Amino acid sequence: MNPEVRRAAEILRAGGLVAFPTETVYGLGADASNPAAVERLYRVKGRPADHPVIVHFDSMERALALSREVSEEARTLGKRFWPGPLTLILKRSGKAKDFVTGGQDSVGLRVPSHPVAQALLKEFGGGIAAPSANRFGRISPTTAAHVREDLGKDVDLVLDGGPSDVGIESTIVDLSGANAVLLRPGGISREEIEKLISLKEKQGDSPRHSGGLEQHYAPRTPARLVSSHQLDKEISRFGARVAVLAFSRPDERVDYWLRMPRDASGYAQKLYGALRELDGARCELILVEAPSETPEWAAVNDRLRRACARE
Ligand code: TXA
Ligand code: MG
Repeated sequence: MNPEVRRAAEILRAGGLVAFPTETVYGLGADASNPAAVERLYRVKGRPADHPVIVHFDSMERALALSREVSEEARTLGKRFWPGPLTLILKRSGKAKDFVTGGQDSVGLRVPSHPVAQALLKEFGGGIAAPSANRFGRISPTTAAHVREDLGKDVDLVLDGGPSDVGIESTIVDLSGANAVLLRPGGISREEIEKLISLKEKQGDSPRHSGGLEQHYAPRTPARLVSSHQLDKEISRFGARVAVLAFSRPDERVDYWLRMPRDASGYAQKLYGALRELDGARCELILVEAPSETPEWAAVNDRLRRACARE
């Protein structure tokens, strides 16, 4: 056993906070059965107390013990996608306390596949409550360095597992109501889920689900999505210091630009690091060349729309 992982599990048992890598983004973990630890987690994160948090386990069996009613659909999705970038919202059992569910009757469960997350969860043995390891409303971290930049000394230990493979948060499927609903597109596509179960459209937007708030995952610099054919025109129109996220070098001169991969999974993997880098470029505006609207880009487009949303 890696001594860092053992130390991390001890910190969790003592009520501390540990940031750890997952295949989606880094999580900020606390013992899901310890109210004081979870309270500190919310304080560091800057998250409202009535927002629920995902509880992570090393196995499907342990995860499902937090639900009082495990449907056939839940088992089907769990068997196919766990360990992996999927979160299921299920009716909670008595083991899922108000302080992790935000007082709701449902609980968010995930079994991550990252080897360091798996090692930590096994060593710890219980559930780890973990939102993404960023301050509320900011860009999720995909490296240990991002976590340290954001949370500094407020976290007791950061486990470094290299850059996250998927790069954006897990897909969330809500199975706690009458119909299965996709709450957040992510590492697993809607199409992959729909091969196994049928999904209904989301009815309105629950404010309890913070990833559902309009402006989320946002850089500090104002950002805008523009179509490929308008990119050069928009660059010249602004005349300000502009940073650009694009698929190829803009014809117009820009202060800072980054080239993004043309495939959706490569793009997702680089997205948050790229937004952080552009945010640090001291420009007045970030222009993002919009990817295509085809299904494989749904999760990336969801995050880009939120990054570019302004009240
Ligand atoms: O990939 C991920 O899911 C990462 C890694 C660390 O696992 N975690 C993550 O957590 O993105 P967080 O807290 O940043 O986003 C989880 C979302 C939040 O919007 C939360 O409100 C929602 O899941 N959620 C959790 N439990 C819920 C529940 N019982 N009902 C509705 N939404 C829930
Ligand atoms: Mg988050």
